[in-house]
Amino acid sequence: MVFFTSCSCALFLFFCWSVMSGEIFVHAAEPSGDEDLKAPVLNENSFFPPLRLSSSFPEDLEMIDHCLNLLHDFGQRYTSLSSCLVSNARPVKMCQNCYSGYNVFLDMYTNISTQVGPGNKSCEELLLHADRLMLLYNLYKGLNDIWESAECTSCLTDKNSVSNDTLHFIDRYNQSLTCFEKYSHGNYSELCVECRSSYKVLNELYSNMSKHKALCIDVEDAMNSTRYSWSKIYNCSLKREENVPVIAVSSFMLFLPLIFYLSNYLHSEQKKRKLMHPKRAKSSHSLMNIQDKYS
Ligand SMILES: *[C@@H]1O[C@H](CO)[C@@H](O)[C@H](O)[C@H]1NC(C)=O
Ligand SMILES: *[C@@H]1O[C@H](CO)[C@@H](O)[C@H](O)[C@H]1NC(C)=O
Ligand SMILES: *[C@@H]1O[C@H](CO)[C@@H](O)[C@H](O)[C@H]1NC(C)=O
Ligand SMILES: *[C@@H]1O[C@H](CO)[C@@H](O)[C@H](O)[C@H]1NC(C)=O
Ligand SMILES: *[C@@H]1O[C@H](CO)[C@@H](O)[C@H](O)[C@H]1NC(C)=O
Ligand SMILES: *[C@@H]1O[C@H](CO)[C@@H](O)[C@H](O)[C@H]1NC(C)=O
Ligand SMILES: *[C@@H]1O[C@H](CO)[C@@H](O)[C@H](O)[C@H]1NC(C)=O
Ligand SMILES: *[C@@H]1O[C@H](CO)[C@@H](O)[C@H](O)[C@H]1NC(C)=O
Repeated sequence: MVFFTSCSCALFLFFCWSVMSGEIFVHAAEPSGDEDLKAPVLNENSFFPPLRLSSSFPEDLEMIDHCLNLLHDFGQRYTSLSSCLVSNARPVKMCQNCYSGYNVFLDMYTNISTQVGPGNKSCEELLLHADRLMLLYNLYKGLNDIWESAECTSCLTDKNSVSNDTLHFIDRYNQSLTCFEKYSHGNYSELCVECRSSYKVLNELYSNMSKHKALCIDVEDAMNSTRYSWSKIYNCSLKREENVPVIAVSSFMLFLPLIFYLSNYLHSEQKKRKLMHPKRAKSSHSLMNIQDKYS
């Protein structure tokens, strides 16, 4: 029994060692021993081996070098834009903080697809559309689609700086948040009173901006979260003050019939009095004047 287990242990160890040193399986998997297939693993310097196949002319070699440099730059821009987007995702601040990264990224992509290299050719075919997956193109498209659906250009001037409207809004938003923070410890009814004016201004600003189609995701998200805090977390309402004129007008309308009947009644009372006491009425000069005015 002991002999059997130690035996199987030894077998197992041998098996592990074989797998790790690649003696058994590598040869089984690659019976042809194809050198080209092993090349990417063995030669770490060949970053993009398939391109080597078309390198029969010196200017092609130059071109490939050029394109590989662009590819390397593209990778760096892609990485920095992606990490900018991720770190500005919640709360959303991507338009304010990543526009310069996006501009450089877009510039890079444009350079790859249009800029001509040494052979008077662009790297577009070599890098972007050379295979079924079109990985680089699709990576570009993914980020670009995100950027466009965020509508960041609405919050920028000339794609190169945050617009004044947006800066103003962010400033107001900060004021509301600061106010919420200041009064959120304890009694919320105080918060509703103290922060009401800054919240109201923020709402007006937002509706002004939405009329001018100047909304991007940063502004939309800031407004949405502020509204959510105001009404759902702090239970405040803007409505009360706006209701005052409505109530005044409707109560006036309610009293209108009453006023009508009252004046009618007074009028008929006067007529009655005139019929019942014509002599006394005639004698009173001032009363007649009033009746003349009414009739
Ligand atoms: C794109 O090409 C232009 C002109 O050659 C160059 O000025 C610019 O720096 C390039 N952009 C990037 C991101 O490399
Ligand atoms: C590249 O193209 C330009 C014009 O399109 C031409 O003048 C130039 O001679 C070309 N260069 C080469 C190396 O083909
Ligand atoms: C935005 O504000 C800056 C500084 O306050 C000012 O110089 C610039 O003219 C403003 N731009 C617009 C479009 O109002
Ligand atoms: C808003 O407040 C944050 C920190 O709370 C600050 O980083 C940002 O610069 C402020 N923005 C403006 C426009 O004041
Ligand atoms: C909150 O404040 C209001 C008025 O300032 C007061 O009537 C109410 O009792 C307070 N509620 C609590 C729980 O302190
Ligand atoms: C919104 O726009 C109107 C007219 O354009 C302006 O009178 C009002 O002051 C603006 N409100 C804010 C908060 O900017
Ligand atoms: C607004 O915010 C709430 C709560 O954070 C969220 O559930 C909702 O989806 C948001 N709506 C929009 C249109 O962003
Ligand atoms: C807000 O109001 C709702 C119902 O009116 C109540 O259930 C909830 O406890 C209130 N929340 C706070 C924080 O006062």
